[in-house]
Amino acid sequence: MNSVKSLAESPDLKHIPSIYAYSLNSTDPPASDLQDPIPTIDFSLLTSTDPDLRSQMIRELDIACKDWGFFRVINHGVSESLMKMVIEKSSEFFCMREEEKKEYEDKGVLDPIRYGTSFNHNKEAVFCWRDFLKIIVHPDFHSPHKPLGFRDVLLEYSKKVRELVKGLLSGISTSLGLDQSYVEEALKLQSSLQILIVNLYPPCPQPELAIGLPPHSDHGLLTLLINNGVGGLEIKRNGKWISVNNDYPNSFLVNTGDQLEIFSNGEYKSVEHRAIVNDAVTRLSVTVTNGPSLDAVVEPAKLVTEEISRPAYYIPMKYKEYLEMQQSNKLVGKTCLDRVRI
Ligand code: SIN
Ligand code: FE2
Repeated sequence: MNSVKSLAESPDLKHIPSIYAYSLNSTDPPASDLQDPIPTIDFSLLTSTDPDLRSQMIRELDIACKDWGFFRVINHGVSESLMKMVIEKSSEFFCMREEEKKEYEDKGVLDPIRYGTSFNHNKEAVFCWRDFLKIIVHPDFHSPHKPLGFRDVLLEYSKKVRELVKGLLSGISTSLGLDQSYVEEALKLQSSLQILIVNLYPPCPQPELAIGLPPHSDHGLLTLLINNGVGGLEIKRNGKWISVNNDYPNSFLVNTGDQLEIFSNGEYKSVEHRAIVNDAVTRLSVTVTNGPSLDAVVEPAKLVTEEISRPAYYIPMKYKEYLEMQQSNKLVGKTCLDRVRI
């Protein structure tokens, strides 16, 4: 495999190889210079025993999911040192020799540990300026055996993130007008699929010509993201790209995914986002996608729980089938979701 990291490290690289030349198509919206304040969810209030404080946060969560599909979470209970270790150990993984990473290359969509480049380079005419490591951490936990200490950090982090996601989804269950534990039970979160993805975006000599990850939405329910302090994530809001600044230390950035859009029958739309690259420093992001159980059939929930009859806008589909469909195609906007839209 030709990693972007080794390409970027080659001396005198002035131009990117043509396979990385990504042209923004005419439907791609311009960048916005607006600095919209991203909604902030205070997790300690969401889990407060004071019903008024919890209700207020649930209203804010509802607005964040409806209007943005994106929010920041603070006071979440995951320690800053653990978050730093995740970034540090992930970065060490990519610094290992190619021979050491090779055993995780060329794997299938549902293989537990996959090291690769671009998104799905067998299907792509244009490659992304990105290397990745994808690890399934739940319901069965996996970890590369190197670097030293990576396994313990991943185990602890994935558990902490699951607790946080459980709290957020219980808030979302309430904000959708369902019982607090409805999402957990209907989507079998006890055996939820959780995938940790490390994205590495090395410096690129022609950043305006390349893309880290093209516009897409995520397949799961909620994705939680942290990074090494280097910007590059953009979300689409009201037809414009907004760059998400890293101005809040020790917080998680959260985006809604396709399964949440389907489950809420379109009330909470999965947000389109992309990653751009720069010519100065390496960017590293660690995302955790949190989905239903692989064997859960996901369909609009409101229909079965409310009297108001609204047509279902999405066909029921097993999460496993949806995931395989998304991961084995090209990453293009919300085209995967379009296939299950009625
Ligand atoms: C992703 O969309 O999965 C990653 C985005 C990022 O690296 O910021
Ligand atoms: Fe994503």
